[in-house]
Amino acid sequence: MTPKHSSISPAFNRRQLLASGGAIALTAAVPFEIRHAYAADQAVPAQHIPVAPARLPLVGAGHPQTAVLAYSGSVPGPALRVRQGKPFQAVVENRLDEDTTVHWHGIRLPNAMDGVPGLTQPPIKSKESFTYEFTPPDAGTFWYHSHDNSLEQMGRGLAGALIVEESEPPRVDRELAWVIQDWRLTRGAQIAPGFGNRMEAAMAGRIGNTVTINGRVPGSISVRAGERIRIRIINATLARIMALNFTGHRPVVIALDGQPCDPHEPARGRLLLGPAMRADIVLDMGGEPGSRHAVTDDFYGDELAYTLVQLVYEAETPLRNHPLDAPMRLPPNPLAPPDLATAERHEIALQGGMMGGMGMMGMGGAAWAINGMSMTGDGQPGMPPLLEFQRGRTYVLALKNETAWWHPMHLHGHSFRVLSRNGAAIDDAIWGDTVLVEPRQTVEVAFVADNPGDWMLHCHVIDHQVAGMMTVLRVA
Ligand code: C2O
Ligand code: CU
Repeated sequence: MTPKHSSISPAFNRRQLLASGGAIALTAAVPFEIRHAYAADQAVPAQHIPVAPARLPLVGAGHPQTAVLAYSGSVPGPALRVRQGKPFQAVVENRLDEDTTVHWHGIRLPNAMDGVPGLTQPPIKSKESFTYEFTPPDAGTFWYHSHDNSLEQMGRGLAGALIVEESEPPRVDRELAWVIQDWRLTRGAQIAPGFGNRMEAAMAGRIGNTVTINGRVPGSISVRAGERIRIRIINATLARIMALNFTGHRPVVIALDGQPCDPHEPARGRLLLGPAMRADIVLDMGGEPGSRHAVTDDFYGDELAYTLVQLVYEAETPLRNHPLDAPMRLPPNPLAPPDLATAERHEIALQGGMMGGMGMMGMGGAAWAINGMSMTGDGQPGMPPLLEFQRGRTYVLALKNETAWWHPMHLHGHSFRVLSRNGAAIDDAIWGDTVLVEPRQTVEVAFVADNPGDWMLHCHVIDHQVAGMMTVLRVA
């Protein structure tokens, strides 16, 4: 058996749902067009972010609103725009009746601002607030999400885009941010119960039946022939791996996980994004006025492939007749280059899951482990570090996937360079904070341990994280 998809029988037929969503949403443009907000010397205003239940029209007209959890009343949360090297402050006010925290995914920030309950801060209690404050060193596409009871809190909506603007962004005509979320909805468009299902947790995790962009089942996006668009794509799903195909177009990837890369077309034109991963792409709209082109996701095979959104060309005359002739390369971020000659190497074995030998009955009922140890939940006080790293030294982690499942592995507080897959070197400089490890594959990453503190390393399939695929690395 190839473990491609968990065995879900959705109460809500995704095809039907997406089809009807497509029909009703023809006029509804996907929001979140970005305008660069700040002049070079302008301070970033502090944000107040209440966290509370809300009801929002995820599926659209003709369907009931969905009960969700929201940052500042919206799902996803507001797209926060901050500036590289400028302080940012957010007061998070917990109006839920349970604890919460916010993790600023991918930002290299001080440990106390990392949002891991127990490990880096006490959880924010109901009716209390916490002020997050940091100065992002890197420009790029990041995101924020709950890190407490995260399976349910993220699964009910608590995630949003965090965009760190470049001082000199490349020239494009328009910039969009797509926060992609995946929901398991009932026929009444409500979030289905059953978070933390043990069978699912030991397989692919909670994959839903409804995919939204920026909180709506997207029908179409209208585009103009000849324009150049930058899209910041954020996979904010709990478990859904995506392989995006831009039919009739040639996306150029300019950044992964917020970190600039050599502009390149993805292999076979398929943009692979595991949970928590981001890609910045540039699209030159070369289609005919009036034409339509599907963006599809076929990661789980043809049978489960679906159209995420349609690019619909306006009838207008093209903005220009040749693609814009302007460089796409982003300015580099100030990442310390790993010193491979002096690096210390550690093997990190990813273990467990169905067909993985641990059965469902690992330690304390966990389904997954890292190097034989299962840390479960979202973070706790006093988690012992698996490894202690010397500040300033380079480390190579060999992430060895001994399981039959895919794992997007995320390291907090750092970005790493992806060195190799199954021993085959990756020549281009690809940096990330989350790397998708195929079943039985070994991926080597390297980074300079330059940020002191206790940092989590975990799978970003949240079911896997909370069921044991999590550990702590200490930089002292
Ligand atoms: Cu985006 Cu510990 O996670
Ligand atoms: Cu995993």
